[in-house]
Amino acid sequence: MNAQGMNVDLSGVPETMLWPLWNRAAEMRRADRLIDDPMAVDLVERIDYDFAAHFGKPTVFHPIRARVCDDLIRRYVTHCPGTPTVVALGEGLETQLWRIADERMNWISVDVPEAADMRRKLLPDHPQASLLEYSALDPAWMEAVPDGEAPFIAAAGLFMYFEEADVRALLGRIAERFPGAEIFFDAITPHISKRTLSGLKITKRYTAPPMPWGIAVDDLPDFIGAIPGLQPVSVQSYADPFPKRTRLYRLLSRVPAIRRRYAGSLAHARAEKDVTVGDTHPPSC
Ligand SMILES: C[S@@+](CC[C@H](N)C(=O)[O-])C[C@H]1O[C@@H](n2cnc3c(N)ncnc32)[C@H](O)[C@@H]1O
Repeated sequence: MNAQGMNVDLSGVPETMLWPLWNRAAEMRRADRLIDDPMAVDLVERIDYDFAAHFGKPTVFHPIRARVCDDLIRRYVTHCPGTPTVVALGEGLETQLWRIADERMNWISVDVPEAADMRRKLLPDHPQASLLEYSALDPAWMEAVPDGEAPFIAAAGLFMYFEEADVRALLGRIAERFPGAEIFFDAITPHISKRTLSGLKITKRYTAPPMPWGIAVDDLPDFIGAIPGLQPVSVQSYADPFPKRTRLYRLLSRVPAIRRRYAGSLAHARAEKDVTVGDTHPPSC
């Protein structure tokens, strides 16, 4: 904690941006780290907030999510022939843009005003990036996506804060508006969702805000496939991508009842091309 640091007057869902930030910064202390994020360390040092008292011992789950999403974005950018566009919904203080560091890409960050304000105060401007103050549920952000290449849309740590109907509607709008787009998001289980609705205490100092949407990892492919124009590319549990870092969790996640209750999901989906006849947004990536 840095008592001389910047005071962040955040609460509710916007305050949750500090949680993955803390875990990404802590990951930098490890020789076997999954991501290189010196900016996260710098942010934690500059913010006057007792991260350890709020979020407890760091865990690997947020670095896993960040790394899986980084890898997907890198692949998308590499295969995109023109100017790749990445839209980061609910980006908080994520510094992914600097980790990816590709000179061709166009980066659009979308967050609610309170969170966007923090991002503006704490992070430097970037010539390829713009910051939009919208709810991800407001289709207005879609107007900022340039015509041309189908975008990559990242929504890390966001959909659990929405109602299921809103998640469906948002994914449906993305699929309709951006044929060819790739989407990354994560999900918690219905059991964890339910616990947050009655006040899930992470530490003595911190109670997670309500997370109304949860889905079991094994139900997610059908959920995605039922959205017109959207197909799952891969759905895995947090325990899957880096097994050396999640040994016990991986073993437990093989027990069906435990998997259903606790295994969070990492999902990669694609909006099918040519699903919307007459769409004026030509896909090319
Ligand atoms: C858990 S944080 C995740 C931040 C970031 N994606 C990361 O992984 O570090 C949730 C973020 O979602 C943002 N958020 C909450 N509701 C939102 C909404 N309706 N539209 C856009 N962003 C939202 C919060 O302000 C916060 O930045």
